[in-house]
Amino acid sequence: TVVRREDYTAPAYWIDTVDLSFDLDPAKTRVLNKMRLRRNPDVAAQALRLDGEDLNLARVLVNGAGCSFKMDGNQLVLENLPDGYAPIELEIFTTCAPEKNTQLMGLYVSQGTFFTQCEAEGFRRITYFLDRPDVMASYTVTLRADKKLYPVLLSNGNLVEEGALPDGRHFAKWVDPHKKPCYLFALVAGQLVAREQRIRARNGNDHLLQVYVRPGDMDKTEHAMNSLIASVIWDEARFGLPLDLERFMIVATSDFNMGAMENKGLNIFNTKYVLANSATATDTDFANIESVVGHEYFHNWTGNRVTCRDWFQLSLKEGLTVFRDQEFSMDLCAEASARAVKRIEDVRVLRTAQFPEDAGPMAHPVRPDSYVEINNFYTVTVYEKGAEVVRMMQTLVGRAGFAAGMKLYFERHDGSAVTCDDFAQAMADANPDSDLARLLPQFKRWYSQAGTPLVQARGVYDAAARSYTLTLTQSCAPTPGQAAKEPFVIPVAIGLLDAQGNQLPLQLAHWNQPETGTRTFVLTQDSESFTFVNVDAEPVPSILRGFSAPVVLDAEYTDAQLLSLLAHDTDAFNRWEAGQRLALRRALAAIRAEGPVPHEPLDAAYLGAMRDVLRHPTLDAAFKELVLTLPGETYIAEQLDVVDPQRIHAVRETMREQLAEALLDDWAWAYEAHKDNGAYRPDPLSTGRRALAGMALTMLCLAARETGDAVWPGKAYQRFKDAGNMTDRFNALSALVVSGQPLAQDALARFHAIFRNEALVIDKWFALQAGAPDRGGNVLPAVRQLLNHPDFNLKNPNRARSVIFSYCSANPGAFHRNDASGYVFWRERVIELDAFNPQVAARLARALDRWKKLAEPYRSAAREAIARVAAKPDLSNDVREVVTRALAE
Ligand code: ARG
Ligand code: ZN
Repeated sequence: TVVRREDYTAPAYWIDTVDLSFDLDPAKTRVLNKMRLRRNPDVAAQALRLDGEDLNLARVLVNGAGCSFKMDGNQLVLENLPDGYAPIELEIFTTCAPEKNTQLMGLYVSQGTFFTQCEAEGFRRITYFLDRPDVMASYTVTLRADKKLYPVLLSNGNLVEEGALPDGRHFAKWVDPHKKPCYLFALVAGQLVAREQRIRARNGNDHLLQVYVRPGDMDKTEHAMNSLIASVIWDEARFGLPLDLERFMIVATSDFNMGAMENKGLNIFNTKYVLANSATATDTDFANIESVVGHEYFHNWTGNRVTCRDWFQLSLKEGLTVFRDQEFSMDLCAEASARAVKRIEDVRVLRTAQFPEDAGPMAHPVRPDSYVEINNFYTVTVYEKGAEVVRMMQTLVGRAGFAAGMKLYFERHDGSAVTCDDFAQAMADANPDSDLARLLPQFKRWYSQAGTPLVQARGVYDAAARSYTLTLTQSCAPTPGQAAKEPFVIPVAIGLLDAQGNQLPLQLAHWNQPETGTRTFVLTQDSESFTFVNVDAEPVPSILRGFSAPVVLDAEYTDAQLLSLLAHDTDAFNRWEAGQRLALRRALAAIRAEGPVPHEPLDAAYLGAMRDVLRHPTLDAAFKELVLTLPGETYIAEQLDVVDPQRIHAVRETMREQLAEALLDDWAWAYEAHKDNGAYRPDPLSTGRRALAGMALTMLCLAARETGDAVWPGKAYQRFKDAGNMTDRFNALSALVVSGQPLAQDALARFHAIFRNEALVIDKWFALQAGAPDRGGNVLPAVRQLLNHPDFNLKNPNRARSVIFSYCSANPGAFHRNDASGYVFWRERVIELDAFNPQVAARLARALDRWKKLAEPYRSAAREAIARVAAKPDLSNDVREVVTRALAE
């Protein structure tokens, strides 16, 4: 059944207090839920309908006495509650089976420890409740369990009592001082140890920070703790938002559907986003941990103190919190160049994952209008595009104005459940003279209209008038259910360069004086022109600097203009972008060319420009690595109307090999110049050096593959063995695997032997093999073998993702096969996963989202595979929604 945003109605009852008691037992946990409710006077009198799922109901008491109730599907219906508005005591006793909970929603067991995941609708799998975010209650929680097996008993808030019970059991009682929606409830019980840190906040309050892990993992908690401390400091410094709890806990679990969860005072994390030391985690892992720890911590205000009225408002908390974690990571960068690198990385995620989503069957507005299964809407659109929408607000009101808007938002809405409109309104009201306030209704189309806008830029230079006119035209293709779009408010940051690459002053005719640097123009019409005066020669426009709006920019640049931007633009984002455009243009030409893949798709101008970047005396290594990385296969595919994934793969690999060979000496120089970085520290500068050294090593091994030279593979193998940290070690291993060196097999075996007890490292080992470049169809048989490996475990989401998603979603050249066997593999895994974990299955189902763009024979084979999944009678709502939308029209 479809849930629609327009059907929202306030709840018939409010729940003021909840007193939960758990007798924890993996096979049969007993849950006593005592609630105090009252009728909502604003809503017509009606029955109380409580949500429940996979529960055994034993008893219902109203004000201490038995009462009549009925079941309606998954709802427990109480029709005869007392009239009037007096509080009602409702007591519900149920049991559930955490060890049988393979969906990992509600209360489940992972490696002998109890965990919960309640967002979005998991609390109903723990007890009957009004499982909706606008019902906020005060929670008291008592946990009882065997003391030996479950020595640590955690829930939200403060520990107020603990003690022994008969039969080797014990208890702990927790009181959360803050009201919260039930999706923020959490409990953890098991054998855990904690790294602890006491901190004193600016206001003098003391807090206890804890990171709980399994006993063997203590040596991997320092970075998460440091990230948490930095998060607390940052939110206070940048937004004046303090920690509102005496105790803030993070707990890691190796079985988790998503990244992490912001339960009030008790964040639960996928181990992947907590555990790290230099021997087992890469620089990317360290960076991800910093941002996810920040993200979940920042939810404490944006999500928890102010939450969502309903799940259509999900981006209210997610878009805003992603924006905040992006800003946090940027603010932690000491150098401006590192901030730019972070921005490029974020945009790359948006363009490779969100743009395709916005152009495919699952396209939806940042604030969706309907859903079948809300779990399918924890998307890159709601998260990353939502963050871009918040970023545009900051661009329109300025950094200080944005902080003022946040302040007003909390003044108005602290402690309540609100909508995306409420946030935008607070931003506008705090900045009454801003473009945002002036354009608010139109700006909010970013929340209601799906699809990525296209902005076309055309420049005309008038030598006689010494003027340059830039015309910007916007459009947006139809998306499911939205045939026609109204124009968006698009902030476009612009600069002009002269032929030598110098930044020109900007002056429109009606301005009193010119401006230097970047100016943001706000596009609101279908088409608008801006005429710059006093321009001596035709300039090169640098448009959409810093990626000032989540749009596709078509600027009809010449190669010469792009080479100039790449060499000179002061805006690091557009500098990188110019290099990407040059590469993309060459990739598309080679893909579209008749006949076999051209041997040398890259020309001297491009190669020379890449050499100049690589050898540049002042650019950061991290930036160089980004510029020298060719656009990804998925991104290239999005630029084409008809997609032949194997052709794209072959062309990109050919380009990469040419880049490897043409710059051989430069790569050798880059490797030697960047490979030694002293003691490991995951800071942006040394991270960048390791990234560039790793890339150089891969290029050198690729070049060696052509010539049969053994020197660089030998060096890579030695590096693999000697490396002092996981980043260097894994990069060396990857260089061998990616370049298909014979030494790769031995290195893989050694790697497995060294790290066989490190689950997160073994995930990398699986992922590297499943994501390896296809050579004559060798990857699928290897992937099928990996499924039979003793360490493979489909039930563990990280492990399932490491093999299956790395192949189906991240390796298009290997997944899309002429014989359709990649799709058969996909269909089997979707169905297999759906039987026990619909959320993970539905994510995998989306690997074929873009099937309609595929060339034959892929297209028909993909449709057939999707149709066969859709034909299964007992699919979950999750997978059914995805495949139904994929097959629509
Ligand atoms: N709120 C969590 C976060 O932002 C995501 C939880 C999603 N869980 C789910 N089952 N859909 O990180
Ligand atoms: Zn979040």
